[in-house]
Amino acid sequence: MTEHPYLIDAARRSGELLVPSLAEDWPELPAVRAEGVYLYTADGKRYLDFTSGIAVTNVGHGHPRVLAAARQQMEQFSHSAVGLTLHEPLLRLCEELPKVMPPGMEMFFFGNSGAEAVEGALKLARYVTGRPGIIAFEGSFHGRTYGAASVTSVKSKYRNHYEPFVPGVYFAPYAYPYRCPLGSDEASVLEWSLGGLQRIFERLIPPSEVAAILVEPVQGEGGYIVPPAGFLSGLRRICDEHGIMLILDEVQTGFGRTGEMFAAQVFDVRPDIMAIAKGIANGFPLGATVASRSLMKQWLAGSHGTTYGGNPVACAAALAVLEVIREENLLENCSRMGARLLEGLRRLQVKYPFIGEVRGLGLMVALELVVPGTDKQPDGATAMKVLEGCLQRSLLAYMAGLHGQVIRMMPPLNITQAQVDEALGILDESLGEL
Ligand SMILES: Cc1ncc(COP(=O)(O)O)c(C=O)c1O
Repeated sequence: MTEHPYLIDAARRSGELLVPSLAEDWPELPAVRAEGVYLYTADGKRYLDFTSGIAVTNVGHGHPRVLAAARQQMEQFSHSAVGLTLHEPLLRLCEELPKVMPPGMEMFFFGNSGAEAVEGALKLARYVTGRPGIIAFEGSFHGRTYGAASVTSVKSKYRNHYEPFVPGVYFAPYAYPYRCPLGSDEASVLEWSLGGLQRIFERLIPPSEVAAILVEPVQGEGGYIVPPAGFLSGLRRICDEHGIMLILDEVQTGFGRTGEMFAAQVFDVRPDIMAIAKGIANGFPLGATVASRSLMKQWLAGSHGTTYGGNPVACAAALAVLEVIREENLLENCSRMGARLLEGLRRLQVKYPFIGEVRGLGLMVALELVVPGTDKQPDGATAMKVLEGCLQRSLLAYMAGLHGQVIRMMPPLNITQAQVDEALGILDESLGEL
């Protein structure tokens, strides 16, 4: 007899309870508890969670310090719209966050999600430049609200039936070494991606009409694609030349995921605006549009606002997340465990011909599966079988990429060597079964 009869039964009926627009999500585990890297389900199973709720619970599920901070704030008060009141967690967060942000990223508009952070970034860029154009990248994912969906191009099904989108958006090719038609070396990849951007300027919209270039420093839903070093610095150069705002969407790459607090620090690139969310409060809904004080000061009173943004409980949790990352040396652990995971996956790549590429940065790690003997034909069906095999063996990983051909892993940053090795063993068994 299960302890969770309602959940077991209701999960079976979830097709009738949840909107079908969500229905392709996988694997819909009936979760009852989570702690650290482990997720427990109603049927008594324990999973090694290498998804962190899609790169959110970066300090592990239910970190005691995060919970304590949130609990303490809840006992004071859990909501009052910013402006009606000011509260300590919010003001403290405004002072603590700049210490870990890339230089100059010092003022924050808090919202509740990644999409909202992106919306804010797009509105701010248009507002301060007075220009209409936005350039985003093929394979990008920035969220599901209208503005964010308008700059998203990871899959046409995310856009189908929603036209017309916010106008003025153009897509340039992302720097995707594995699938660059000109070759995988840096020069070819930059020629393809930055050259594509120049063609947009020549044929579609002059750079003087472009407000912003919006980019994920490592593409997330697109397939954990790590661009060559010169890509982001090339974008910075182009933005400087034409007075365009460089917006980094660090919703997925942020808060230690890449081994630095932000990928901007890995690539040593200076953004004008950032969108951050996910790992910021380890699961409490919080996100922010970030820019320099001088830029933010141009965004005049009443131009943008929110009811829930800067929620006191979420801000208190975010402050605890910053302390945990610093005091538990999680950036260092992320780099070490990320390197171990990559190394292990590279060993598997030698063994299994259908692993086309292994790539990653920090604990944002992926394998791309292809049909052997073809010209890198993406193999989403095999990726799904591998994911199912892992799930049966109690490892939860996730898919990405246009055809679902990428298996991505984003465990918490405090993962141990033994847990990395356990996951590699499970993956090896699941790949070997095919
Ligand atoms: C890079 C990136 N931007 C934006 C978003 C949207 O975030 P949210 O789902 O919190 O709206 C996501 C979500 O996966 C993301 O990965």
